[in-house]
Amino acid sequence: MSNKTTWIHEELDNLKAAGLFNVIRTIESPMDAWVTIDGKRLLNFCANNYLGLANHPRIRQAAQEAIDRYGVGPGAVRTIAGTMSLHNQLEQRLAAFKRAEACITFQSGFTANLGAIPALVGRGDVIFSDELNHASIIDGCRLSRAKVVRYVHNDVDDLQEKIAQTTEYNRRMIISDGVFSMDGDIAPLDKLCAVAEAHDIMLMVDDAHGEGVLGEGGRGIVDHFGLHGRVDIEVGTLSKAFGVVGGLVAGKQVIIDWLRQRGRPFLFSSAMTVPDVAACLEAVDLLEASTELVDRLWHNAKVFKEGMAGMGFDTGKTETPIVPVMLGEAPLAQEFSRRLFSAGVFAMAIGFPTVPRGKARIRVMNSAAHSPSDIEQALAVFGQVGREMAVI
Ligand SMILES: Cc1ncc(COP(=O)(O)O)c(C=O)c1O
Repeated sequence: MSNKTTWIHEELDNLKAAGLFNVIRTIESPMDAWVTIDGKRLLNFCANNYLGLANHPRIRQAAQEAIDRYGVGPGAVRTIAGTMSLHNQLEQRLAAFKRAEACITFQSGFTANLGAIPALVGRGDVIFSDELNHASIIDGCRLSRAKVVRYVHNDVDDLQEKIAQTTEYNRRMIISDGVFSMDGDIAPLDKLCAVAEAHDIMLMVDDAHGEGVLGEGGRGIVDHFGLHGRVDIEVGTLSKAFGVVGGLVAGKQVIIDWLRQRGRPFLFSSAMTVPDVAACLEAVDLLEASTELVDRLWHNAKVFKEGMAGMGFDTGKTETPIVPVMLGEAPLAQEFSRRLFSAGVFAMAIGFPTVPRGKARIRVMNSAAHSPSDIEQALAVFGQVGREMAVI
């Protein structure tokens, strides 16, 4: 064995011993309420496919028609030759949907964060960042070279203290996830906005899990709190509720104009593909036409949460369709997930480093794609495994 890679073997063995090794399941069917894995049909509670759009007939058709008309690949980065009329249309439609002045799209939510943060703050600047912010925000902060001051999760008093203590700065920015993806709680964006305005600090929210979920017809967290025009940078993703893949930043025209000049993944990585863009345009059409899917998502989540609480499960502090089933140690959560799988329910165990040590859980992602009987079946399986494992 090469000496150069010995340490990797050791690290992988350590992960396995600690129950933290990611076993990646392969899906052999479309992403939907039910999926096929290893030839077996399973009820799917893992995907971020909140509205069931990943395999929606209208979204599929829109992607197919766009391929016939425009081909598949954009062929270049946006600034050189990769901007097609479809990309511009999508940005205009998303800005209108989100009731923002302007919008820019990226290849993913991750690259939207990597593009936006370093374009707006740099060396000598300060970022106040919620301690539970997503990895892509953390990486965007690191890339920016700004000083990062972490404040206690969702704690506006701590944020204010940290602001008062941090006196050496050039520009300042507050960044928070909108919905925290591992706990399902919502950032107090109205309060963050008041603090940002009081101190004249830029405010950025990453609404990856609020897009298509929160606000009127899924317009997101800014709409949920009625803060249009007051949150400087609203990052979003098209990879979750929109059912496709892509990222976006919505906000003031001047900020979006700047990101077109200085957002590095926009400048140096090719654009979203044609079928992705067309599929997202169709998703905007669907969301603007009716709130039915968003309403169904919330109804399903309510039934699931009430059922779990009724059986005595600890579902943490969720306020959204993300339901953490708190189990504690990672090996227990992994065994719980394996037993769910054997009983026909696909729901992943999440452990360190995605969540703190000792806070392992099964994360249940509800979807509008689930039927009432799907939810009933999932609750029955959770109850059965919970009793078997003496968790309830
Ligand atoms: C808060 C947050 N931001 C960004 C992302 C990345 O989004 P995407 O999958 O579009 O890169 C995620 C996805 O896990 C997320 O939860």
